[in-house]
Amino acid sequence: MAEVAYVKASRIFSGNPPVRAVDELSLDVTDGEFLVLVGPSGSGKSTALRMLAGLEDIDEGAIHIGGKDVTNVPPKGRDIAMVFQSYALYPHMTVAENMGFALKLRGVNKADIKQKVLEAAKMLDLEKYLERKPKALSGGQRQRVAMGRAIVREPSVFLMDEPLSNLDAKLRVETRANIAALQARLGTTTIYVTHDQVEAMTMGHRVAVLKDGLLQQCDTPRALYDKPANAFVAGFMGSPAMNLKTVPLTSEGAKLDGIVVPLERKALDKAAGEGLSEVTFGIRPESLALVSSSEQGMDMTVELVEELGADALMHGSVRIGDVPERFVVRVDGRTPPTLGQTVKVAVRDAGEVHLFHPESGYRLTD
Ligand SMILES: Nc1ncnc2c1ncn2[C@@H]1O[C@H](COP(=O)(O)OP(=O)(O)OP(=O)(O)O)[C@@H](O)[C@H]1O
Ligand SMILES: [Mg+2]
Repeated sequence: MAEVAYVKASRIFSGNPPVRAVDELSLDVTDGEFLVLVGPSGSGKSTALRMLAGLEDIDEGAIHIGGKDVTNVPPKGRDIAMVFQSYALYPHMTVAENMGFALKLRGVNKADIKQKVLEAAKMLDLEKYLERKPKALSGGQRQRVAMGRAIVREPSVFLMDEPLSNLDAKLRVETRANIAALQARLGTTTIYVTHDQVEAMTMGHRVAVLKDGLLQQCDTPRALYDKPANAFVAGFMGSPAMNLKTVPLTSEGAKLDGIVVPLERKALDKAAGEGLSEVTFGIRPESLALVSSSEQGMDMTVELVEELGADALMHGSVRIGDVPERFVVRVDGRTPPTLGQTVKVAVRDAGEVHLFHPESGYRLTD
């Protein structure tokens, strides 16, 4: 077990212009932590992971594992085990042989290998399959073998790069819970890459959000959701996404159709200090609510209703200035509005409004 640190670590690929795939990344992962790296395609997640594994050069800065500077240590000397998206099992070996192979290479004796493989197989519910070849396994079972292969090595750090992306939706949900439980039981520091923000939120103790090689924010799932540091994180974390719109400011708040949403004094002062007459206004679908026609609210024309069972998502247009803007509202699943209907929508609680700088995107609200 070990703590891991990126110290202003960069990976720069040559080209014209050069690509700063990972740009001065600084991140401390504590011993036993499950840290998720998340971000859109091309944001540098795999590169960051490969830098930790020693599969990518560190062009600037350093990498520490277990308090030691391993920047120039080859992969073998780093005491890590990596699980990839493609499990890369050896087709001619049985499950047991696949799982024990790294130990065999290390010269561990047969009885010990057998015992370690059996232990891991028990944890992963693979005992029945130990003598099978990979081709006789389902996708989920193969994924577990790949996990088992990493576990038997008893590394101080697990690195996982989208290990669930080859599984169907149901199996993904099951397996992500199993991986999280297994990690908690083993207590091994784990860095887990995904582009799926639901996976990130449900699995990570903390989640680091990357965009264009730059770390945007690293915090607990709850903190990322409640206090995104900028408009990018706000729009990326959460499904359906936060409504983010550019709206004019008044001295009291943000002006939407027919209403002024009152805003905290501090945020208004900050915006005024920056000379802003407009801000990026963010409100999550569950922070908007249908209200009766006599109450204050924005008129919304319902354009789409997605029924999810317990609740429904209502999509519709609200006017901001003269422009119709799309908003999504989470409503009760039993009595959703109908298409084409005009409804009244209000902000549940002004405290749930997020404000961001319209250009730089940084957070203005507390
Ligand atoms: N060997 C390479 N040579 C040049 N550019 C590269 C190389 N590997 C990655 N890149 C670039 O670095 C950036 C980050 O790539 P990376 O694979 O880390 O992204 P990612 O976040 O893992 O994306 P995905 O979700 O699609 O897997 C991309 O712009 C990519 O094109
Ligand atoms: Mg990748």
